[in-house]
Amino acid sequence: MTSVVSIETSRLILRTVTMADIDGVASSWKLDEGPIPLPEAEQKINSMLSSHAQNVPGKIIHICLAIISKDINEFIGWCGLDHTNKSDTDPALFYLLKENYWGKGLATEAASALLNLAFTQLELASIHGGAAPENLASKRVMEKLGMKYIGLDEEGGYAFTITRDGYLTNNKK
Ligand SMILES: CC(C)(COP(=O)(O)OP(=O)(O)OC[C@H]1O[C@@H](n2cnc3c(N)ncnc32)[C@H](O)[C@@H]1OP(=O)(O)O)[C@@H](O)C(=O)NCCC(=O)NCCS
Repeated sequence: MTSVVSIETSRLILRTVTMADIDGVASSWKLDEGPIPLPEAEQKINSMLSSHAQNVPGKIIHICLAIISKDINEFIGWCGLDHTNKSDTDPALFYLLKENYWGKGLATEAASALLNLAFTQLELASIHGGAAPENLASKRVMEKLGMKYIGLDEEGGYAFTITRDGYLTNNKK
């Protein structure tokens, strides 16, 4: 159920990648740092497909979705949920975009669609997120998503959380 995801928002497509996307993965994996070699991109894709295949409703290991700009039909970033750290009580939200695309509300648009997937289809109970002390843009994204600020973490970063009940209450149609 959770192995193939494709979500359309007003400006973006968020989707799982396949081996057919190897060039896009190679060129965008490190965002603005330049392409990674194709064998490394192949390894990343296999790893994403393998973790997606282990996800079941209510319990995910890792989900990583490419963020594709509908305007230019190119990979502009990545977002997902990670629960590979067994000491975490729930999955961690992550998002990253190529710098050219910052400041347009795109991370919020992508992460908002991801939270909707997480709580309405993947049936997760809660999600946490963190922003490094200097990363005020990421902190602001979590505020705009309606996540609850719970304080500073051990490294002085900003810790946020959101439960399914909280999300569904905030997003009642
Ligand atoms: C963090 C990141 C994803 C934000 O992407 P984005 O598309 O620019 O985010 P949005 O436009 O949706 O929202 C950013 C918000 O932060 C605000 N912001 C940006 N820089 C800021 C700063 N220095 N101080 C305070 N607020 C700031 C913006 O004004 C905006 O808020 P607003 O809509 O109320 O004006 C992007 O900067 C990025 O990819 N950074 C590198 C990776 C990363 O840090 N990821 C997060 C950790 S997982």
